[in-house]
Amino acid sequence: MENNRGQWGSTFGFIMAAVGSAVGLGNIWGFPYKCGANGGGAFVLVYLILVISVGVTTMLGELAIGRKTGRGAVGAYTSLSKKYTWIGYMGVASGFIIVGFYSVLGGIVLRYMLGFLMNLLGMSGFPAEGFFGAWIANMPGMLLFYAIFMIINIVIVMGGISGGIEKFSKIAMPALFAMLLIIIVYVACQPGAAEGYKYMWIPDFNYLFSNFFTVLKVAAGQMFFSLSLGMGCMITYGSYLSKSENLVRNSLIIPFSDTTVALMSGMCILPACAAYGMEYAGGPGLLFNTMQTVFTQGMGGTIGNIMGFMFYLLVLIAAITSSISLLEVCTAYLIDKRIEKGKDPQRVKMTVIMAVIAFVVGLPTALDGLGTNVAGGAWMNNPAEMFGLPVMTATADWLDFYDFLAEGVLMPLGAMIMSILIGWVFGTKKLIGEEVEVSAAKFTGAKFFDICFKFVVPVIMAIVLVAQITSFLG
Ligand code: PFF
Repeated sequence: MENNRGQWGSTFGFIMAAVGSAVGLGNIWGFPYKCGANGGGAFVLVYLILVISVGVTTMLGELAIGRKTGRGAVGAYTSLSKKYTWIGYMGVASGFIIVGFYSVLGGIVLRYMLGFLMNLLGMSGFPAEGFFGAWIANMPGMLLFYAIFMIINIVIVMGGISGGIEKFSKIAMPALFAMLLIIIVYVACQPGAAEGYKYMWIPDFNYLFSNFFTVLKVAAGQMFFSLSLGMGCMITYGSYLSKSENLVRNSLIIPFSDTTVALMSGMCILPACAAYGMEYAGGPGLLFNTMQTVFTQGMGGTIGNIMGFMFYLLVLIAAITSSISLLEVCTAYLIDKRIEKGKDPQRVKMTVIMAVIAFVVGLPTALDGLGTNVAGGAWMNNPAEMFGLPVMTATADWLDFYDFLAEGVLMPLGAMIMSILIGWVFGTKKLIGEEVEVSAAKFTGAKFFDICFKFVVPVIMAIVLVAQITSFLG
């Protein structure tokens, strides 16, 4: 069974793939501005506590369920009991929803990277001012780059676990890390950068105490999306792990690396904005407007183009290694089904089928031009306009609508139910402990994990669920 599903070739390869899934747009774009807007260092502190308690525990839960059952999200829950299959379907549904809008954004990142490359080669066609607004209303362009990004995903996932996902991640992730480091060092040498570090690192405890609930919900939401938890992605990646792997150790390494990259992106973006007098805007504006201006006008000249090219290349890598994991969640579902029926997995065909469905699901995100609407030149209106719904975050554009469904509802619900199943229904020792000890490693921290599965994760996820629903519908 294991052989025709595929398996990771090495521990390093698995870690690069799993960290690649975790490190994505969430780290490079979401973390810096959420941190800046929610108490700086105080946010970092709450975030770290959440990673250690909720993040590491949920990661361990997903990896252990995946490896124990040897199945992707749906198959894994079915193996535990047929009555839990629907939880796996929630994960695959989230996979489809996220990979669509994620690839639309990935396409825009690709366009920016090529823009800076064109600048470097002395070609015109990448105006600094107003490019983003014009680009999201340029439907043929948006669709073309959306399609190219999806094809890149298909090519990698088609290659299989060790021959596709692992092979790509093993080269791409160290490259991402090196480029990020170079930009951080360059930015650190610019006058005025210090303000950015202060903004990020000095804890505003007054802010924390008077806004504790807000900080907690933003940090918790960011944490589990950033760690790719709650939708069976790590169940799927865990299902390709060898029985000799130490699960507890891997459950520490992945969140640690993901958090390191999130902090590094903060130390790249915030000081860069500070040095060049830019506002720390949230939303797509930060990644596509503010940062473009930082490179073209702040740094300027050849160095600005080099740094800009490297920056969008590293964001592109981050986006690809995450979206392939999302597509793999969907693909593994079909492959598992075929294997159960004794058929050949036909990975190539299954990957293409799932990518085409995901592409169609994601289309409205591109077609409404991230909320540009028909009035602004897009080909489709946002959900509020289309269905005559009240205007709120979840209906303002298709990206937010999909984000609401997946990150707002399905994922926190998925993580909450999984931890309740582990802690209360199957028992931490039985379900997780036994699987951990298969590799002859002792189940270190058994008591701690048990408390987290039983109480901490369900409570925090319930808070996230309520908070997300109220903020998206607000
Ligand atoms: N962790 C990714 C990010 O931070 O951008 C997003 C993501 C990837 C979420 C894979 C969920 C997932 F299964």
